[in-house]
Amino acid sequence: MCGIVGYIGWRDAAPVIVEGLKNLEYRGYDSYGVATGTDHLMVVKRKGRISEQTECVAKCLGTRGIGHTRWATHGPPNDINAHPHSDCTGRFTIVHNGIIENYAELKRGLESRGHHFASDTDSEVIAHMIEEAWEGDFPAAVRAVLPILEGSYAILALCADSDEVIAARKRSPLVIGIGDNEFFASSDATPIVAYTRDILVLEDGDLAVMRRGSIAMEHGGVPIIRKTTYVDYDIEAAKKGGFAHFMLKEIFEQPDVFQQSFRLAQKHPEISSLLSHAHGVSIIACGTSYNAAMLFRYFAEKECGIPVRVDMASEYRYLSTPSDEVVIAVSQSGETADTLSALRKASSCNCPTIAITNVQGSSITRAAEQVIYMGAGPEMSVAATKSYMAQFAAFAGLLSGMNCNNGTSSVERSARQAIEEALLTDVSEAVALCVKASTLFYVGRGIFYPVAMEGALKMKEISYIHAEGYAAGEIKHGPFALLTEDTPVIAVCLPGDSYQSMLSNLREMKARFTPLIGIGYEDDVDLQDVADVLIPVPKGDTYAQVAAVTVLMQRIAYYTALALGRDIDKPRNLAKSVTVE
Ligand code: G6P
Repeated sequence: MCGIVGYIGWRDAAPVIVEGLKNLEYRGYDSYGVATGTDHLMVVKRKGRISEQTECVAKCLGTRGIGHTRWATHGPPNDINAHPHSDCTGRFTIVHNGIIENYAELKRGLESRGHHFASDTDSEVIAHMIEEAWEGDFPAAVRAVLPILEGSYAILALCADSDEVIAARKRSPLVIGIGDNEFFASSDATPIVAYTRDILVLEDGDLAVMRRGSIAMEHGGVPIIRKTTYVDYDIEAAKKGGFAHFMLKEIFEQPDVFQQSFRLAQKHPEISSLLSHAHGVSIIACGTSYNAAMLFRYFAEKECGIPVRVDMASEYRYLSTPSDEVVIAVSQSGETADTLSALRKASSCNCPTIAITNVQGSSITRAAEQVIYMGAGPEMSVAATKSYMAQFAAFAGLLSGMNCNNGTSSVERSARQAIEEALLTDVSEAVALCVKASTLFYVGRGIFYPVAMEGALKMKEISYIHAEGYAAGEIKHGPFALLTEDTPVIAVCLPGDSYQSMLSNLREMKARFTPLIGIGYEDDVDLQDVADVLIPVPKGDTYAQVAAVTVLMQRIAYYTALALGRDIDKPRNLAKSVTVE
């Protein structure tokens, strides 16, 4: 995790870096720091958020610099552990995203040779190693250090004596923006697009030396030329636009997002055909993307009879990888470390690979053979909402190309309409019950089981209420012990093959005095009978129902978190892009 930004050119570096880091706060926000260089290096670093900073811009002078917004891995968030980190002399300073796996051994060696460490971080070893390797040539010193570092890194480095910013990458994202006699380096393109759309994506093993008016790239010590790509990015879409939170804005964008993403996926008939003829499909993903993948599993198995395995990407390395499976990696950011390594494992086993992602040029797009873009636009809130809807829509679009669901136009129209209605449905009674709870269960059967999992994930992410998503049939096997009159259950109970079993499960819960929030049809008298609160779902096909229930659950989570005064867009301890394993 962590976000890094660097600049060299003709502008004051600190304001560029501070603004850039604000755009990267989704990657981590427990502390921040900026270093700039003139003839000596000026470093300001603090616990807290870059958006609250007041010192960097005033104190850090100069037209080259680097900055960092942190998500702690080694050492708690405090002023000392905040990046940049410097060597013993103060000549070198670095920012780092990733994990140096052999840092403990390296640190012991450096300490035995007289180096003094200020922080608990793994990253600080890099600055001291550059100090040791330095013989007057800054790029040569950095070049000498990189092969010794095990793990992952995106590094930006400054030297007081060299008018350069050095960037290096291994398994952590890093891009460079090519401006007019100026260069911008960043974890992703968002801090850069206000200045230039010409972006160069570093590959693993690349090192870039940015000077005034020139850039020299090398790979493994050998000079290379990398092509720039023009990045399409809607700057307005990344602003709140009058909404109280990005999350609320993104929830409201979902009717368009569903349509857009559904259509984009339909432009890949070759992928639909590959999936239709596959012996098996395996999906790897984390978090919300995992829950979206589970939706595809239920739809594809039911409608197309295709066996679909869904694995948490972090567990995939411990499991078998049959080479006749088509492997789909789903990742909003395209940078999730576990998803990337799982995808690489699938490629190394010769599986055909597909990436579904929202971010152009992200690492996953380069690791997969084929790519489907979700077209959700920038998602700023840490909790994923519209990107989940986009993933669902992408899967629906692929399924429509597999000719086993109920027709393209009806799914697109019915889902859109259902989302629009769900955006206006009153959820206040449900919120009133949730706000008082310390534990919640979300239950569903069949396709509504993954929907329940995602509902619970949203709730815990932003409200900090313990919430679990369960298959309704499974809840008797353990969780029943937790049900009391203070443990509300949010249950999806809609007509279909699971309806009667769902009703029975709800009655069993009711017999334990559990407050029940039923999500179902308004005119369902049986549900009215058992549920304390009924949240109505507009009538429609299963795709429309999934879309509507998703939106209702997002809104219940949002308003609960709002009532509890939580920091909705930047929840405690979380980050949007998890680039460490
Ligand atoms: C983090 C985010 C989640 C996201 C997950 C996977 O945990 O906070 O919202 O679902 O990473 O991210 P990805 O970018 O791979 O979809």
